[in-house]
Amino acid sequence: MDKEIAIKVDNVVKRFGNRTILNGISLEVYKGETFVIMGGSGCGKSTLLRHMIGAIRPDLGKISLLGRDITCLNEDDMDKIKKRIGMSFQGSALFDSMTVGENVALPLREHTKLEESVINIVVKMKLELVGLRGFEDLMPSQLSGGMKKRVGLARAIVMDPEIVFYDEPTAGLDPIVAGVIDKLILDLSQKLSITSVVVTHDMGSVFRIADRIAMLYEGRVVELGTKEEIKNSKNGMIRQFITGDPDGPIKFFQQKDDYLEQLTK
Ligand SMILES: Nc1ncnc2c1ncn2[C@@H]1O[C@H](COP(=O)(O)OP(=O)(O)O)[C@@H](O)[C@H]1O
Ligand SMILES: [Mg+2]
Repeated sequence: MDKEIAIKVDNVVKRFGNRTILNGISLEVYKGETFVIMGGSGCGKSTLLRHMIGAIRPDLGKISLLGRDITCLNEDDMDKIKKRIGMSFQGSALFDSMTVGENVALPLREHTKLEESVINIVVKMKLELVGLRGFEDLMPSQLSGGMKKRVGLARAIVMDPEIVFYDEPTAGLDPIVAGVIDKLILDLSQKLSITSVVVTHDMGSVFRIADRIAMLYEGRVVELGTKEEIKNSKNGMIRQFITGDPDGPIKFFQQKDDYLEQLTK
């Protein structure tokens, strides 16, 4: 049986100024799977994710999300699709002046006409799902980093999305808290049958959560396969990424050049 496709990225090219950040990316994410995009800092992971959620348009190529080509949708149709996806941002991106409950409720207040009493119930339920029962009235400043991430997850699933996108969900967390977040991502996708797309360079995380993995390097997909295929890959770049070996096909001076070039712009 053919797998149902949730997201199709077809030959996407994106340039910022004269730098080509995405250089012909093609991949498909199947419904219900946890798809991981990995690669070094600055290789274009977040940029690819932002294309997938329709926040930026490609210079070339197409992206279809839940069966619609989002590269040529008008704003109304795009808004409809956006209601069916959730996004957990790099950093937790909570509003410091709002309570935990208000942060989680935000998408409901923006996109629905639900009554306040219903919103409160939904918020309670979602906080419970991420293990933060009764935390509505706290302020983000009273929470640890891991708790803030969990509030971000509760907000990402508050509209019952079909797909959730996570940008570096475990960045900056200690290994145990990172493990808790990974487990939560898995639980949410299994309990709620959500398709998950996770951007990360945390190798521990990758092998805990992924069904399939795409490795990006210099704007291209260098390898795409199941967790087992990537684990056993003979590709030098993959091996180097897994072992963290400073010597190998991935040259770090290239990234430094990029960095310096950027500074002079
Ligand atoms: N809006 C933008 N304008 C110019 N350059 C950008 C923009 N967004 C990202 N970049 C550049 O594109 C490259 C890839 O960025 P990003 O996708 O954030 O990488 P990653 O998430 O893999 O660390 C970086 O060099 C970054 O500076
Ligand atoms: Mg990023």
